[in-house]
Amino acid sequence: MVTYRSAREWARMREAGRVVAHTLQAVAEVVEPGITLDELDAVAARKIKEMGALPSFQGYHPSWAPTPYPGVVCLSVNDVIVHGLPNGRALADGDVLSIDCGAELAGYHGDAAITVGVGTVDGAARRLMDATSQALERAIAAALPGGRMGDIAHEVERTAQDAGYGIPEGWGGHGIGNAMHEDPAVPNRGRPGRGLRLKEGLTIAIEPMFHEGGQDQTRTMPDGWSMATRDGSRAAHFEHSIAITGDGPVVLTLP
Ligand code: MF3
Ligand code: CO
Repeated sequence: MVTYRSAREWARMREAGRVVAHTLQAVAEVVEPGITLDELDAVAARKIKEMGALPSFQGYHPSWAPTPYPGVVCLSVNDVIVHGLPNGRALADGDVLSIDCGAELAGYHGDAAITVGVGTVDGAARRLMDATSQALERAIAAALPGGRMGDIAHEVERTAQDAGYGIPEGWGGHGIGNAMHEDPAVPNRGRPGRGLRLKEGLTIAIEPMFHEGGQDQTRTMPDGWSMATRDGSRAAHFEHSIAITGDGPVVLTLP
């Protein structure tokens, strides 16, 4: 069931989104070669708590996962696309790190992700991150009342195609609000003019994921959560939660 929300509700989601944005910033600031994923997770936990919110991911248990989510944020390195678990792994110079964060405040959720380079990354990694980030910007710009879900999805898909990247099969964005995952699905591939009609009040998370290789199938790693590319190629992931308003898209997950 798709829920349409009022301006009063977007305002609340904007507050949850602010926590998410500040948390991503706090984590990104301490990223450097040698720091462990556990340490980054602790930075996120502290920031969310300090801002009076709750981590949306911790304890979340989707049907496909073997355990409730054990961390605060998802930290996905190199060939891990999404849902990387915070563990004792130390980051190395040149790694590509996706940081994905959800926070709940006063019953509303925000969900966003960024991908950052660790130390000095190569030009190919920079281009991969830039293209994925650009896909998110274009997809947000297409989230217009009167449009269709396919308009959003197509912006993601054509950006990957033009830049020569793959889109991992089976993953995408989602509705968000009083639950972190709500209807509708927000796919990363689609045709303009097709799919759900976009109406004022729709609140969604858009999350393009691109990878360098040609093999779009993913594999679940032995931890049961981390989702990696089959071909071992590196992936990038960016996400914002947005509201579709009469004036166009409003990004909720900003500082
Ligand atoms: N942004 C991710 C998603 O929407 C985060 C989910 S992680 C989980 O799928 F732990 F909460 F599952
Ligand atoms: Co999400």
